[in-house]
This record gives sequence, structure tokens and C-alpha cells, in this order.
Amino acid sequence: MWNGRAGESWVRHNSLLEQLLAEPGRECMNLLPLTPAMQILDVGCGCGNQTLELAARLDASSTVIGVDISEPMLGLARELKAANDNALSAEVQFALGDASEPLNISSPLYSISNFLAENTKTNTFIIREIILNTRIYI
Ligand SMILES: C[S@@+](CC[C@H](N)C(=O)[O-])C[C@H]1O[C@@H](n2cnc3c(N)ncnc32)[C@H](O)[C@@H]1O
Repeated sequence: MWNGRAGESWVRHNSLLEQLLAEPGRECMNLLPLTPAMQILDVGCGCGNQTLELAARLDASSTVIGVDISEPMLGLARELKAANDNALSAEVQFALGDASEPLNISSPLYSISNFLAENTKTNTFIIREIILNTRIYI
């Protein structure tokens, strides 16, 4: 689904969807105690809007890793990263991955997730992976 029409449609309408979803994402980010050298995982980062906003709030010793299952959405995320490179203080990495399976990412301190999955069974597996890999989940 996310690698098919849903992902492609999201890419086309990303600006509009971002206007709808940005605020709850910001409220999550506001809960993070931002300190130097943080490593944060953005699970289901989509087109990377939240990942990039977080990277602009962090310092140069920090890293934000956006993971998503959708290749088209990650494609736009990488384009937006390149276009906004000057505003990003922290390092940003985008990785293709299914968060309901083992993530193989060096353990981040925090994970955030904005409107990840709508399927309860998938959510259960994703949350299990997040809990196994992270100290705090918002
Ligand atoms: C509703 S979108 C939200 C995107 C982004 N967090 C935002 O706020 O704009 C849900 C995202 O979760 C991703 N997703 C769904 N299931 C996933 C899974 N099992 N592993 C990784 N990403 C997944 C989708 O590809 C999509 O990018």
C-alpha cells in the first residue's frame, strides 16, 4: 500500500498533509528534552517533514534517523533534506525498513512516531520493536 498508490498520492499532496499533521508532530517534539549528542529515531517518517524539523532543533553532535517502509515517500524525504540542508544542524539519515521487523539500527535514546500505522496487529509489532530498541517512546 505505502509503496503503491497511497505512498505516491502522499508524495503528491505532502504539503497539504503536512499542514494537517504538523501540529501533533510538533507537540511530540516539544516533549523531547533536547540535549547535545542525542540520537532520535523517527519511526514511519514518511516524507521526512518531522525528521527534518527535529534535525533543525538539535545540535551538530546529534543524529535523527527516519525509517519508513515507503520508497516513494523516502525519495521525497531525501529531496527535502537536500533542499533544506542549510537549516539542518543535526545529521539526518533516512533508511528503508519495516518497523514491525527487527530494525538493525544502533539503539537511539528516543523514538518518536507521528500517525504510523492504522493496523492494530502491525502496530503491536512496531511498538515491540521500538520498546526493544529505545529507552523512551513518544
Ligand atoms: C500516516 S503516514 C505519517 C508519516 C509521517 N510520520 C508524518 O507525520 O507525516 C504513515 C507512515 O508510516 C509508514 N509505515 C506504515 N507501516 C510501516 C511499517 N511497518 N514500517 C515502517 N513504516 C511504516 C508509511 O509508509 C507512512 O509513511
